[in-house]
Amino acid sequence: MDSLKIRDLSVEVDGKRILNKINLMIPRGEVHVLFGPNASGKTSLLMTILGFPNYKVISGEILFKDKNITNIPIDERVKLGIGVAFQNPPVIRGVKLADIIYNFLKNEHDLKKKEIELCEILNLKEEFLYRDLNFCFSGGEIKRSEILQILAQKPDFVMLDEPDSGVDVENLGIIGKVINDFLKDRSGLLITHLGYILRYVEVDKAHVLIDGKIACSGEPIKILDQILKEGYGWCEKCLKMEKKH
Ligand SMILES: Nc1ncnc2c1ncn2[C@@H]1O[C@H](COP(=O)(O)OP(=O)(O)OP(=O)(O)O)[C@@H](O)[C@H]1O
Ligand SMILES: [Mg+2]
Repeated sequence: MDSLKIRDLSVEVDGKRILNKINLMIPRGEVHVLFGPNASGKTSLLMTILGFPNYKVISGEILFKDKNITNIPIDERVKLGIGVAFQNPPVIRGVKLADIIYNFLKNEHDLKKKEIELCEILNLKEEFLYRDLNFCFSGGEIKRSEILQILAQKPDFVMLDEPDSGVDVENLGIIGKVINDFLKDRSGLLITHLGYILRYVEVDKAHVLIDGKIACSGEPIKILDQILKEGYGWCEKCLKMEKKH
């Protein structure tokens, strides 16, 4: 069974086409990485998979665990096992991290102990549980709070939008190992610009998104090396090569 299957997906926001005929298949147990320049549509693809209504599906479909989820609401997708660590999560005054994770952990034997354990795993002080969500959190604290929510939710399929962006070298090691352990028996889609997180997280396949289209797919480290050496211009060549085969 595939975890995620996207067929010919085109998406518009405010009448503007941002994703064009995307085809993407992530088999169960695989983690794929998504590269692409700024504004190429990476976050939009994640938002569409999660089901944000302003990302309007013009054509194509999204299947999750063989079920067509293209038109079902976000909460149902979450119940089916989809989770996201957002690139830029909103500040929510009056809502605490503890409130958010309560729903996921309420049946745990010792809730309080579990919450503290999650903070410790992610090198976050316990006080973060009781501060307004993301309010005055530093960039790195926001990333760790996002991952903490994922650990509490335990989705079968997790999308991580730049978990390594703005994270210092020590915390990169911490979150990298946590993410890799978490993904061991799960599937996922990971966005990273410079690939720092790939020092810790094993991935199976990479895709490059250019102007809302998948320009090429292949071996993650090879693709990252090429992008870092030659920039995204190289991906157009890759696209031509793939077309020949
Ligand atoms: N809700 C929205 N309203 C208007 N435009 C949007 C919206 N969401 C995305 N866009 C536009 O779609 C394009 C793709 O944005 P997206 O955030 O998906 O890029 P990205 O590949 O994640 O970039 P980055 O690497 O900078 O995070 C951008 O031009 C962006 O301005
Ligand atoms: Mg983005």
